[in-house]
Amino acid sequence: MDLPIDPSCVKGFLREDEGACLYRHARRAAQRGACAEIGTYCGKSALYIGTACRDSGSVLFAVDHHRGSEENQPGWDWHDPDLWDAEAGALDSLPSLRRTLRLAQLEETVIPVIGPSNVVSKAWQTPLSFLFIDGGHTMEHALNDYRGWVPHLALEGLLAIHDVFPDPADGGRPPFEIYQLALRSGGFEELEAVASLRVLRRISPS
Ligand SMILES: C[S@@+](CC[C@H](N)C(=O)[O-])C[C@H]1O[C@@H](n2cnc3c(N)ncnc32)[C@H](O)[C@@H]1O
Repeated sequence: MDLPIDPSCVKGFLREDEGACLYRHARRAAQRGACAEIGTYCGKSALYIGTACRDSGSVLFAVDHHRGSEENQPGWDWHDPDLWDAEAGALDSLPSLRRTLRLAQLEETVIPVIGPSNVVSKAWQTPLSFLFIDGGHTMEHALNDYRGWVPHLALEGLLAIHDVFPDPADGGRPPFEIYQLALRSGGFEELEAVASLRVLRRISPS
């Protein structure tokens, strides 16, 4: 893996071993078609998956409204005042993402799609070879992401989910719940687990 920039310079919540795992699986999966991630923030995961797409001649659609999740809002633990847009009175991580993509020379490989995930998923038409879910972590948003995007994942396509914490003491449950839904559906087999990242392969169409 030859990343174009140092991932530690990009704001975000992904560990390096999780990023390397994303790269490895996306590199292979992307040879079969387009990739998407739900939840991009400032582009840390997009750096890994986008580099994999670059190396495989594919593209990554990076879906985010860029207004931050609940935990990114003022007063919450993961609020970053540097990302505050005073005129809008709202968080805006898009300028930071654009900077990441420009520095990494990934502007023709990672295509930002700016809007609420559930609105975008309803209009989506392109089959996906790789889907990374790391968007809103409430039950409502996690379920919307699972139900809205998994139907677009091709057979043999890979589903990666971040912040999967089997022990509630380690973190919120919704990503774990959708990971369980995927396994219980009978449509997926687990390929790898690294820290809170899980990578599954679609083994049946529904
Ligand atoms: C945990 S961060 C993503 C981190 C990123 N994958 C990384 O590696 O740094 C979650 C992101 O999901 C976005 N988000 C939350 N709910 C969303 C929704 N309903 N639609 C679109 N984006 C959403 C937030 O704006 C935030 O940038």
